[in-house]
Amino acid sequence: MLRTLAKACKDWGFFMLVNHGIRERLRNEMLEAFKALFDLTDDEKGSYIGTHVLDPIRMGSGFNSMTDTGECQCVRHHAKILVHPEFHSVPKPLNFRNISKQYSDCTRVIGLELLKAIWEGLGIKESRVMEALKLGLCTQYLAANLYPQYLNPGSAFGLAPHSDLGFLTLVYQNGVDGLQIMHKDRWIYVKPIPNSILVNIGDHMEIVSNGKYKSVLHRVVLDSEMVRMSIMMVIGPSLDAIVEPFADLVNANSPAMFRGLTYRDYFEHQQSNSIVEKRALNIVRFRTDN
Ligand code: OGA
Ligand code: NI
Repeated sequence: MLRTLAKACKDWGFFMLVNHGIRERLRNEMLEAFKALFDLTDDEKGSYIGTHVLDPIRMGSGFNSMTDTGECQCVRHHAKILVHPEFHSVPKPLNFRNISKQYSDCTRVIGLELLKAIWEGLGIKESRVMEALKLGLCTQYLAANLYPQYLNPGSAFGLAPHSDLGFLTLVYQNGVDGLQIMHKDRWIYVKPIPNSILVNIGDHMEIVSNGKYKSVLHRVVLDSEMVRMSIMMVIGPSLDAIVEPFADLVNANSPAMFRGLTYRDYFEHQQSNSIVEKRALNIVRFRTDN
């Protein structure tokens, strides 16, 4: 199992998780609760639109409504809520708090188990890492995207090519295709096995693994007939943790590829700039051409 996981992380940067234990009912309740949140009037959503990237609750359109330039047109509505180490929730819809708490708790347990297994596969000792990255205070965001029907799907993206920050993102989608990943220089559709959860490798896994596991480039294309929805759980270290390559993976043959930076500073940088593939990683990448 560790070997299969390691191979998926290395070759694909993406895998499907089955038998994950997140009940179908909870997944669907979470989708419905986000749908109800998106359906609120602009007045009701108002206080969450255009907030700072590190604010605990944020809603908007495009990639980031505050910084979008003409560079990338992303047609989506999104909401993002910090659920750990402090739990936040929107007051409406009324059942949101209860459902999102359950969803966050069980996805966090799964995310942390996966992290331990992935790192064990790299030969990393769990206790040291848990401490260095302050995983007891891991940063967990619950987010959702709604991609409306779009008459001319070829003329815009749902979400332009990018990689995610954090260690892992767990994605559940409503059964409408749209997500594509870059694999061997080609875009391929990810058609999830029913009831599975997609897991993708984020930039911070690339950093701690010193480039052994690369964050996967992905994008969302639009559909002219169907509304697509996805729910994401993004797990990363504590905001105060300095993220750098694991010492065990750095040696004369494999020098450090990235410098250390707090998760907070990376987060702020990645989320406040327009989204261009994996460019955010360059702020921590050591140059190799000099
Ligand atoms: C994201 C993302 C994929 C999806 O929000 O970063 O890649 O399926 N979402 O909506
Ligand atoms: Ni993404």
